[in-house]
Parts: sequence; C-alpha cells; structure tokens
Amino acid sequence: MVVHVPCRSVPCHRRGVTATLSATISDDLLDWYDSHARALPWRSPPGAPPPDPYRVWLSEVMLQQTTTAAVGPYFMKFTETWPDVEALAEASEADVMAAWAGLGYYSRARNLVKCAREVAARGGFPQTEAELRELPGLGAYTAAAVAAIAFGQRAVVVDANVERVVARLFAISEPLPGSRREIREATDSITPDERSGDFAQAMMDLGATICTARDARCLLCPVASACRGRAEGDPTALPVKAKKKPKPRRTGTAFWIERAGQVWLVKRPGKGMLGGMRALPDDGWSARGDGEDDPPVSGAWRAAGVVRHGFTHFDLELGVAIHAGSAAQPEGEGEWWPVERIEDAGLPTLFAKAAALALSDRD
Ligand code: ADE
Repeated sequence: MVVHVPCRSVPCHRRGVTATLSATISDDLLDWYDSHARALPWRSPPGAPPPDPYRVWLSEVMLQQTTTAAVGPYFMKFTETWPDVEALAEASEADVMAAWAGLGYYSRARNLVKCAREVAARGGFPQTEAELRELPGLGAYTAAAVAAIAFGQRAVVVDANVERVVARLFAISEPLPGSRREIREATDSITPDERSGDFAQAMMDLGATICTARDARCLLCPVASACRGRAEGDPTALPVKAKKKPKPRRTGTAFWIERAGQVWLVKRPGKGMLGGMRALPDDGWSARGDGEDDPPVSGAWRAAGVVRHGFTHFDLELGVAIHAGSAAQPEGEGEWWPVERIEDAGLPTLFAKAAALALSDRD
C-alpha cells in the first residue's frame, strides 16, 4: 500500500515527494507501460533498445501541437520518402514543405530541413540534451524527448499530456501557464534515472488514454493511489487554465484563376505566414493588421463563398473569388497547375479549403 507523505513533514529527496513515493510512482507507471504502451510507428516496444534517433526526432517535431492520429500517415510518408537524416538533408525545401502540407505550423518544416542538413554535416545526432538544444528548431521539449527516448539519457519531458497528468497527480492548482515551472519541477521529482524515455512516453499514454482532458478514469490508473488531485475529489478540475482572450478576426480574399484546366498558383514569400508554401494568390490578408478591411472584390470576379481557419493568434475568414472570364496571364511569379492534380500541390489546409470551395462552386 502506498502512503502519501506530505513533503513538509519529512526531508525530501526531490521537490514534492519522498524518494520512496517518487520511485513507487515511476515503477508503477513503467509496469503499466510494459503491458499498455500504445504501438506507434516511431516507437520501440517498452524496454527494447531505443529507436533510431532520426525517427524519434522526426516524430517529436511532427507531434508538437498535433495528435498521434494526424501524425501517423505523415510520419509513414516522410520515412518512406526520406528514410534517414542524410536523405532528408538532400531533399529540396519545396518538396519537404509540400509533403508537410496539412500538418500546420510550417516553420517546423523549414527548420526540419535546416536541422537535417546540420545533423548530416555533423555525421549524426548529438546525444545530450544541451547539444540537441543547439540544433535548428529544437526547443526544450524536443531536445529532452530525443535525449530521453533515443539516447536513454535522463531528461524531464513535459508536453501537454504530461502537464495535465502532473497537475492532477500533485494537485497543482495555480493556473497554466503560470504553473509551468512548478509542473516541470514536479515532473523532475518523479522522473527515474533509468528508462526516462519510456517513463515520458508512459506519462503521455496515460494522459492520452486514461487521464484525459475530459475525463479521469481513476479506476484504471496505475498511479491513482498516489494522486493528490483524486484525493482532493475532482481531478478533472485540474489543470486550471488562465482565461484566454478571444482571438481577433481577420478577413481576406483568395483568388481562383483558371485557364484550360489549370489554376494559377503562387509560392508564398519565405518569411511570414505559411512562408514558402504553394498557395492561391490572395489580397495580402496576412500582412494586414487585425480589424483592417480587405479590398472589395468586383468586376471580373465572382464570390464563391468564405472559408474559415483558426491560426494561433487570430481566426481568418477568407473569401474565395473566382475569375469569371477567360483569364489573362496573371501578374507576378507563379505557375499553372493542373486542376485535376490540385491535391498533389501541397497546399496548406487554408488554401486546400479555398480550392475545395472554388471547385464545388464551379461544378
Ligand atoms: N506526443 C509527443 N511525443 C509522443 C510520443 N513519443 N508518443 C506518443 N505521443 C507523443
């Protein structure tokens, strides 16, 4: 039986829990992981030798702000096309951006190519968290995850699932994001010296399957007896989140210009929103401030409707205007792309929605 010992009454090994309780939590969680780990394409089975660092790094970059279900097909496609970091290092940025289309947060794809080139030039991934952190696009989370999962280093890995599990386990009631430091320290206090990669993934699996955002299925939880959130009565009330300000709304227009079965596509400027991605031409909505109106569409244009898309800092309503006449050569750089192959153009989701609307209007 596990007895919870409040930290103030006994000397603490690490912050928040006694050494014994810390070991009990990590042992119980690892035992549970040994029989319940999700089989995911970037993983090794629990306790087996670690997976290829390239696959761990690629998956962890893809999994930021993206679900395992959404990542699965992209991970398979990337690893078939570019089976190792050297192959990815030789890929063109345009091909990688196109393969990434639909996953969102496109700066991740640009950094992916930069990072692959640097790793290939170095002759492989560095193994420590500090050295990994120096690579392009590797933040604290990814560096810790790769160090722990691919290289068996002790590292404290905190993603949104871990944040939720730990806030409940330790009944941390200060709202996020202010509680991040406390949550990290609490995670540190229960991270084992051995198998910290499996431990991190066990926490993620617990958060994804049992201690979920909506539910806390404590009867199935391997660490329920140590959980302060449960002892206090309502684990699902945690973590508390600071009220978000409503996102501003922006508007814009995308243009569908078609000629002889081909549509005019542009490449967005390298820096800025959806930078480097193939797209429909538009009216510059991404450079306008919140609340600035877009110029009216008229003359040779017909409005097909509006698509909505949520970005991190604003929501966009993008009108889609179809050129009603037989289009002349549009100004500026771009390419005529076969309409029937529009799905291969690598359009980011916003423009894929706009293209689908234009196509449904034209049918
Ligand atoms: N989310 C982020 N990294 C993950 C991993 N390695 N397994 C499952 N979900 C994750």
